[in-house]
Amino acid sequence: MASTVIITGASQGIGKATALRFAQGGYNLVLASRNVDRLNAAAQELKLIAPRVTAIPTDTRDADQVKTLIDRAISEYGSIDVLVNNAGVYISGPADSFTLEDWHTAIDTNLWGYIHTIHALLPHFLSKGSGTIVNVSSSGGKVPIPYLVPYSASKFAVTGLTQSLQSELSPKGITVCGIYPNLIKSDFMERAIFRGKDEEDVIARRKQLEQVLSVPVVEKPDDVAKAILDAVKHKKTEVIVGSAGASVFSNRLFPDLLQWVMRRTFKNSDKDY
Ligand SMILES: NC(=O)c1ccc[n+]([C@@H]2O[C@H](COP(=O)([O-])OP(=O)(O)OC[C@H]3O[C@@H](n4cnc5c(N)ncnc54)[C@H](OP(=O)(O)O)[C@@H]3O)[C@@H](O)[C@H]2O)c1
Repeated sequence: MASTVIITGASQGIGKATALRFAQGGYNLVLASRNVDRLNAAAQELKLIAPRVTAIPTDTRDADQVKTLIDRAISEYGSIDVLVNNAGVYISGPADSFTLEDWHTAIDTNLWGYIHTIHALLPHFLSKGSGTIVNVSSSGGKVPIPYLVPYSASKFAVTGLTQSLQSELSPKGITVCGIYPNLIKSDFMERAIFRGKDEEDVIARRKQLEQVLSVPVVEKPDDVAKAILDAVKHKKTEVIVGSAGASVFSNRLFPDLLQWVMRRTFKNSDKDY
């Protein structure tokens, strides 16, 4: 019988690439994201490859919607083997430019979204005595990133969530893995939030990132997807994907220098330091 994976943020970017990799690996797919048309379009493509696909429109910030997602997945498939927490949002700007709503968007999506799925699915994994939880964090969950404070805070929280869960759940047959990519050329610019000192600063921040993303060496969603499937197969608890290794390593060896370089790179028109 095929194994079953639930993937959040599965309609685009890293989530969709991950769904494709799992489909090729013979998994049934339960796919979640908000935009129904995009989710259904992804599901139609993946139905050509995966044994079974179910698309369940879900906003992972909403605990009730996530409970419905998990309950439906369990009732349709009987047993769930893997959860990939991936739905996330990018938010950039000087720390004093964010509204509290911006902070909530970052933390509610990138952290609470992951807590909601884990809270709803954990009793099922514990009753089976098996299961794998993959949390897609970021190099920004290992290395502090100036001008990405709400994002980096949410991702450091995901790192703590992952590592403490792994410590507690590994004797109970459950593997919890953190995935740490660097910048990936996905579809995240469509929903990314940019703030700044003024309108010019906001535009400059967006342009700066668009320029970096246009460099051919920037890694692709499938680089992360491959790492996720491999982590699940080999019960890995942490994968630092590709070039993220250099960021994490530099931060260990030369943290002050790295922070200075990042401040210079990302400050744009912020003159306050
Ligand atoms: N791209 C990068 O450079 C990068 C680097 C490191 C880590 N990451 C992490 O990788 C993960 C995926 O990022 P990505 O770059 O692939 O993003 P993406 O291309 O923007 O795709 C995001 C996916 O998540 C869904 N989503 C967003 N908010 C959601 C919500 N509240 N509820 C349910 N689904 C939601 C989106 O669909 P809907 O909008 O229709 O819901 C979409 O399917 C994120 O956790 C991100 O932080 C990305």
